[in-house]
Amino acid sequence: MAKVAIMGFGTVGSGVYEIIRTNAGKLAQNAGDTVELKYILDIRDFPDHPKKELFTKDFNDILNDEEVTVVAEVMGGLHPAYEFTKSLLLAGKSVVTSNKELVATYGTELLEIARNKNVNYMFEASVGGGIPIIRPIHQCLTANNITKIAGILNGTTNYILYQMITNGKSFDTALKNAQDNGYAERNPAADIEGHDACRKIAILASLASREAVDYSDIPTEGIVGITLDDVKYASELDCVIKLIGYAEFMDGKVYSIVAPMLVKKTDPLSGVNDVFNAIKVTGDCVGDVMFYGAGAGKLPTASAVVADIVDSVKHKVRSKKFTWYKPETDIMAGKDAKKFEYFIRTGDSIENVKKSFGEITHTDSISAGELAFVTRPLTASEVEAKSKELSDIMTCIRILD
Ligand code: NDP
Ligand code: HSE
Repeated sequence: MAKVAIMGFGTVGSGVYEIIRTNAGKLAQNAGDTVELKYILDIRDFPDHPKKELFTKDFNDILNDEEVTVVAEVMGGLHPAYEFTKSLLLAGKSVVTSNKELVATYGTELLEIARNKNVNYMFEASVGGGIPIIRPIHQCLTANNITKIAGILNGTTNYILYQMITNGKSFDTALKNAQDNGYAERNPAADIEGHDACRKIAILASLASREAVDYSDIPTEGIVGITLDDVKYASELDCVIKLIGYAEFMDGKVYSIVAPMLVKKTDPLSGVNDVFNAIKVTGDCVGDVMFYGAGAGKLPTASAVVADIVDSVKHKVRSKKFTWYKPETDIMAGKDAKKFEYFIRTGDSIENVKKSFGEITHTDSISAGELAFVTRPLTASEVEAKSKELSDIMTCIRILD
């Protein structure tokens, strides 16, 4: 019998508990052993819970119990999640997690400890909620040089954009609904300012390149400035606006960015709505493949966490190779390594626009006194310099190619 523990009994942790109980037979069959929950660590009290005897507030109960071999860290945040995870791995226990902030920040070190201790540190739930993406990139696409990853990686922002556009909800109401549904981070600024998507694309880029991509090196913009007028213009251009996490692998370097982008309606990413996420991966052999599913929420996320528990029970003393290493040189391509077309709205004159940007594609204005246009492909520095020559820029959004 494999004894496991859950750390954090919130949205994801309660989902892990539910799946371990309701699908016990299936898990035992797949793990080759019964999966028994021995502890649930949380700072809150659960006096009325039917399994209240499982709850503890003392991390040492789990750390010092030799029977516990696998621990699900679903508390979130960096501290004490980092210290707890490190202690557990050093004690020879496998840890599985949905905590992308921790994986993106301390993953390189924790993976090294897991390798050295011959245990597992698994994080399938850290990107795309319930979508299988860590194993596919690492295993199923292993024959490929991955050249590009473009994804809708944050369920909360995709839900907000969808509710604003389709149901006419205000930004604040849509965010409140996302929080009520358990999709948002404890501090939802991480969602709407793009930091959560940034951590996720850093994890995927690290996995694809096998070299740690530092998320703090990835330029990141959120959806806060997006207006319904922007959405209408996007539609005129046969596009939709999505928050995109993007990584391109070029000559040993990684170009990465997180930003709202206009996505052409011919691109399958454009049809990904509500809390759903999708990740389009391009490999030099396979071409484009896309992974789609619920990007957040209790049971979808717990589904991925429990899969890692089962895998860890099956492979008790084998360090899985979902891993990456600290690079010896700087692997980040600069912000100008990639050119995008840009959609721009300005209050300035057509003469000034043409003087700065040269050849542009003009779009019908939906408000008096403004001009909307699409540029030719430009680097970030070029668009910054040209924009400074205009007096009034309202919107400047990349177009995903
Ligand atoms: P919640 O806030 O719902 O749950 C976290 C739980 O952990 C809370 O009960 C919290 O208690 C408890 N906790 C916090 N600190 C400690 C501590 N030091 N010791 C013991 N318990 C503690 O978060 P979620 O379940 O939503 O998210 C958990 C992790 O999973 C996060 O990293 C999140 O980013 C990630 N994730 C979440 C998804 C989702 O859809 N919600 C999807 C994918 C990943 P208290 O509330 O009292 O602080
Ligand atoms: N807050 C995150 C999101 C949870 O909305 O995508 C899933 O990682």
